[in-house]
Amino acid sequence: MRELIIAGNWKMHGTRAQATILLEGIKAQLPASLSAKVIVCPPFTALETASDLCDETPILVGAQTMEYRSSGAYTGEISPDMLTDLGVSYVIIGHSERRSYYGESDETVNAKLKAAFAHGLIPIMCLGESLAVREEGQTLAYIRQQLEKGLAGLPAQDVKAMVIAYEPIWAIGTGKTASSAQAEEVCQAIRQTVAQLYDEEVAQALHILYGGSVKGENARELMAQPNIDGALVGGASLKAHDFLSIIEEAIKE
Ligand code: PGA
Repeated sequence: MRELIIAGNWKMHGTRAQATILLEGIKAQLPASLSAKVIVCPPFTALETASDLCDETPILVGAQTMEYRSSGAYTGEISPDMLTDLGVSYVIIGHSERRSYYGESDETVNAKLKAAFAHGLIPIMCLGESLAVREEGQTLAYIRQQLEKGLAGLPAQDVKAMVIAYEPIWAIGTGKTASSAQAEEVCQAIRQTVAQLYDEEVAQALHILYGGSVKGENARELMAQPNIDGALVGGASLKAHDFLSIIEEAIKE
């Protein structure tokens, strides 16, 4: 059985003071017997605050992106070592907002995945189709291509340990969630593709999350799907109550 993962992507929200209030709120109400892995991904500027506040709690801290090179003249960038130095253990790679606003290609995603593993970070690789791709009936072919290019050259042991988040672009921040059948269809296809590119053992170990307008009301049904191992949550991770309700729904027997 794969452990459920609930990850909150705070995007560009929150000063350190706001991050503190949010995390104190989450910590105060976190279920005592937590059968899911909980990850928060604050902006870079709040990572150290988050790491300090999550120390000796089950909450893990992730970053939202990173540079793949180790150091050098790359003004404005943050390297993998700078993240681990702050107590960060996960990093979101290739979020659709990074791909569309900052020109991240599948090749960049691939370089970042390799850099994450080389520096002891676990990547949460995002992929997903636009509405146009879905309407053309090309979703599964598009996802397969993102996987083939994104995972190129990654050894099996890394793919086993990583997290993939299927986030249809049309469902992000729109309030339009994919139906559980739509989400399961793609997550199952992701697992099948990984089984073809690697083997069944790797595919079964891999964690696949769904992301895109996840909230308390839809979390349970989405996460009950056989190939969905948790959620990457944007908007609803910014309020302690909303994030906690997703965690509670996910771990309900
Ligand atoms: P959303 O964002 O939950 O606000 O739709 C998800 C994401 O972008 O990771």
